[in-house]
Amino acid sequence: AEIEADAASYDRTGHDHFMAKEIHEQPAAVERALRGRLDARFHTAHLGGLNLDPREARAIRRVKVIGCGSAYYSGRIGAQLIEELARIPADAEPASEFRYRNPVVEPDTLYIAVSQSGETYDTLAAVQELRRKGGRVLGLVNVVGSAIARECDGGVYLHAGPEISVASTKTFTSTCVVFGLIALHLGRIRDLSPADGRRIADGLRALPGQIREILAQEDRIAELARKLSAAPGAFYVGRVRGYPVAREGAQKLKEIAYLHAEAYPASELKHGPLALVGPGLPTVAVLPDDDLLGKNQATLGEIRARRGPVIAVAHTAPDPRVTEDVVLVPRSEPELDPILLGVPLQLLAYHAALALGHDIDKPRNLAKSVTVE
Ligand code: G6P
Repeated sequence: AEIEADAASYDRTGHDHFMAKEIHEQPAAVERALRGRLDARFHTAHLGGLNLDPREARAIRRVKVIGCGSAYYSGRIGAQLIEELARIPADAEPASEFRYRNPVVEPDTLYIAVSQSGETYDTLAAVQELRRKGGRVLGLVNVVGSAIARECDGGVYLHAGPEISVASTKTFTSTCVVFGLIALHLGRIRDLSPADGRRIADGLRALPGQIREILAQEDRIAELARKLSAAPGAFYVGRVRGYPVAREGAQKLKEIAYLHAEAYPASELKHGPLALVGPGLPTVAVLPDDDLLGKNQATLGEIRARRGPVIAVAHTAPDPRVTEDVVLVPRSEPELDPILLGVPLQLLAYHAALALGHDIDKPRNLAKSVTVE
């Protein structure tokens, strides 16, 4: 019966591509990631499979996230969430780099392995190496019972449902949401106040509806994507919370539109890449209305002075002299904003690839999961 129920997941049901279907499944996928996990009384998250008691959770001195491709980029957003909400130093690293460089494995570091498939060889090998050295590893995995899920000390399933398209979309978003839950959980055991816990829990609950609002702008995003598809490539820029969003956005454009896209921390633009900015090279700017908005606007000013085209993904429209090519995204809680800001970038890459006539679900040279070295 389970196989029959799943069969619908392998059908594009009204969409031209699995990628489009999976982008549109995101509100439901996020609802499933949250279901039964938010505690309205203590404003925290319950994650049964973590296998981490409060004393152990308080003893964590550092969090290191590992993964490959989009899983790694989601890990960068996750590390930021954990550092912001739980105030534990956290960062992310590609699993392959981690396992080849003979890392120092510390007993008070919590390692989190991210993988949609649960079968990516580099991530699995990194987990095995960590376990051999006594590291505590949590798995953030979509496929139940997969190799990585089995190797870990504990973990959280995404429950995103099958993802067929090579380019990851719904599992990327669901991973970020689950990181939000982990950060909330660790934060509330440590120093996150009940009021902030409530604020984040409410923010998480609001995400599915807000994602629907973004998806409703698909026609407008497709229009901007057609413009983008005529360019030789693009820069993607963001600061702090916006930067990992820019990195995943650039990854999507490369993967399926085959356009060179490079993400930069917006402040770094003037330290090199600005030499390339001009009428022929567009920049996609991730522009949340946070305390760095002024700095981001200054960057847009630098791009405009060189007549570089800009597509902005923003909470409020920037100065129309800079650009009128804007996708407006609903505001979440500032820490959760990256989750929503990434969604238009998926549609941007999808429609650019569509305009260019590429095989969207099976991009050349890429595989859905890389189970060899
Ligand atoms: C491949 C896919 C990517 C994916 C990465 C990690 O390279 O093409 O889309 O992000 O593997 O996959 P995983 O299953 O470990 O998340």
